[in-house]
Amino acid sequence: MKKLIVCGKGGSGKSSIVALLANGICHRGYGVLVVDSDESNSGLYRMLGFDRAPSPLMELVGGKKGIKQKMAPKFSAGESEPQMTILAQDEIWIADIPPQHMLSRDGIALVSIGKILQSLEGCACPMGVLSREFLKKLRLKDNEVTIVDMEAGVEHFGRGIETSIDSVLIVVEPSFESLELAEKVNGFAVSIGVDNMWAILNKITSEKLALKLKIELTKRNIAVIGSIHYDTEIFEACLEGRPIYNSRKTTEDLDKFLDSLL
Ligand SMILES: Nc1ncnc2c1ncn2[C@@H]1O[C@H](COP(=O)(O)OP(=O)(O)OP(=O)(O)O)[C@@H](O)[C@H]1O
Ligand SMILES: [Mg+2]
Repeated sequence: MKKLIVCGKGGSGKSSIVALLANGICHRGYGVLVVDSDESNSGLYRMLGFDRAPSPLMELVGGKKGIKQKMAPKFSAGESEPQMTILAQDEIWIADIPPQHMLSRDGIALVSIGKILQSLEGCACPMGVLSREFLKKLRLKDNEVTIVDMEAGVEHFGRGIETSIDSVLIVVEPSFESLELAEKVNGFAVSIGVDNMWAILNKITSEKLALKLKIELTKRNIAVIGSIHYDTEIFEACLEGRPIYNSRKTTEDLDKFLDSLL
């Protein structure tokens, strides 16, 4: 069914929003596959209530070195990188994902593309390619949704991820930098023809603040789909490495826009 990516400035609340969306969508009776495509941060599995991270999908293709080795001959043969086949199957259904690479609980499953483990591991590009190829081949049933937690910034758009997804959600927290990044993401998304792109306001403390951000985003031609209030429970859950649960207030926030996303 739907493939959504969640992007935005570092620390704006992408992973927290992914967890809230996953809980909310699951509660509506959908199966949710969360794809951790952030190479640098590792806390998403905790936010989703798992006690460990799944083995990265990167291992299925021989690790970063394996992908680089597969990429190199294509480049030297003059072939463009997007045609390369990384995963052997043409279609990947959730049931095809090997159990050691996917954790599941109560209708929410988690896969991880890969993490940069050492400071000298270098460019995250192979992981970006794998994210894109995995998402492109991923097939969803009518009652399944995928939510992708992206790394901060805009680099993933340069890797063609937009060819593999349906909707882009930009998390915007109340800061000028966050608005600036939203504008940049919007510019990229428009130039490559993404149709469904919305901002989700996060860490909202008043109606007045929400309105101010909406005005700023409207000036930048970005539609706002909804907003999530500042929730000390989310903040404390992140501080203590606990799962994020949807509070009554957060559920109310989500109820206002979730159906229009699905
Ligand atoms: N609605 C919210 N209310 C209160 N705190 C929030 C909210 N959303 C996120 N936070 C806090 O903001 C911080 C960053 O959140 P999170 O890790 O989800 O952001 P991120 O965009 O995924 O960050 P990164 O770019 O590092 O991956 C955390 O301390 C989290 O608790
Ligand atoms: Mg994150």
